[in-house]
Amino acid sequence: MTFDVSKVRAAYPALTDGYAYLDGAAGTQLPDAVIDAISAAYRGGLGNAGGAFPASGRSDAITAECRAAVADLTGGDAGGVILGPNMTTLTFRLANALAASWGPGDEVVVTRLDHDANVRPWVCAAARTGAAVRWADVDLPAGELPAAQFGELVSERTRLVAVTAASNVLGTRPDVTAITAIARAAGALSYVDGVHATPHGPTDVRALGADFYATSAYKWSGPHIGAVIADPALLDSIRPDKVVPAPDTVPERFEQGTPPYADLAGVTAAVDHLAALGDAASGTRRERLLAAMTAAQEHEAQLAAVLLGGLAAMPHVTTYGQARDRTATAYFNVAGRTPRQVAEHLAARRINVWDGDNYAWELTGALGIRDTGSAVRAGLVHYNDREDVDRLLAAVAELAA
Ligand SMILES: Cc1ncc(COP(=O)(O)O)c(C=O)c1O
Repeated sequence: MTFDVSKVRAAYPALTDGYAYLDGAAGTQLPDAVIDAISAAYRGGLGNAGGAFPASGRSDAITAECRAAVADLTGGDAGGVILGPNMTTLTFRLANALAASWGPGDEVVVTRLDHDANVRPWVCAAARTGAAVRWADVDLPAGELPAAQFGELVSERTRLVAVTAASNVLGTRPDVTAITAIARAAGALSYVDGVHATPHGPTDVRALGADFYATSAYKWSGPHIGAVIADPALLDSIRPDKVVPAPDTVPERFEQGTPPYADLAGVTAAVDHLAALGDAASGTRRERLLAAMTAAQEHEAQLAAVLLGGLAAMPHVTTYGQARDRTATAYFNVAGRTPRQVAEHLAARRINVWDGDNYAWELTGALGIRDTGSAVRAGLVHYNDREDVDRLLAAVAELAA
């Protein structure tokens, strides 16, 4: 399969502004097809759901198509795709609903590798119900999350294990399949944060063994929409808070209020855009997605080797994380500069990077860098090219004392 990055880049109007967009891990740009789908939905006339007139039917169809698209992207069941404003909101919502049956003597397991959005909802829910929290630790400096420790942490008291499919700063991809298997064997549920992982390779929620898998479309060329994918039968057993007249069906029961239908049309267009990366011409959308995301992963891995190798070779740069399996994400500091100063230096050279903890709160604390501005993150996605990487390396090289 070919991966013509210049063709991919041509689909993104924002990429023509002369900036190197290395901030993809915080949010990606949108291709024309997604922008057009959003505006076409509004232009076509939308109504609220479930009405007797065609504009309402269009909104219902958009929602159904969006669930099907997210299911194709993740390998889940469209009937178990919960849509919402973002991963954080959905995770607090699910934590509230799941914790309704927790009490003293119960336990939840969270990790110090995770973004706080897959930590605090569970910690808060545990505190409210009297359940105990057990922490999985990161092996530093490697940045691995050893799966074996879950054998010690998980017991018949465990109600839920929350773990990320990839760290949003170190890029570490833990052995989620092994971790969810340990949870399942103990009768616990698993909640897998796929927000950082989903854009960086093929996803199969069944192979991961995830009872819940969360993702956010704005990390993979879509608008600001989050989704949680679960088995509809599991969702059927959970009773979230809801207004009485709203549908009590699954997954609608988990969705509060009126969704942004036009954005849901944009999510579908983003999935279709991903399916076309790498020119996979034949097969079902799911098959094309698997091939395209594999091609995107290989493209990112080639660039990441240059990026990470280049940073590691600079004596004035400290890089964090050396996980065996990781996304194309670099987290680093420059001697004598704060992360913000580095980001400002790069911004002056038209290079977008993030500085700070990026909400990897526990991890930056464990690394001992949280109180000093944490670090700089350069996150590659499928539309980045060698020139982006070379520009970053040249600009960081200028900061040698
Ligand atoms: C790994 C990870 N999890 C969760 C989140 C939170 O996602 P959202 O912004 O959709 O709430 C982010 C956002 O950066 C993330 O990178």
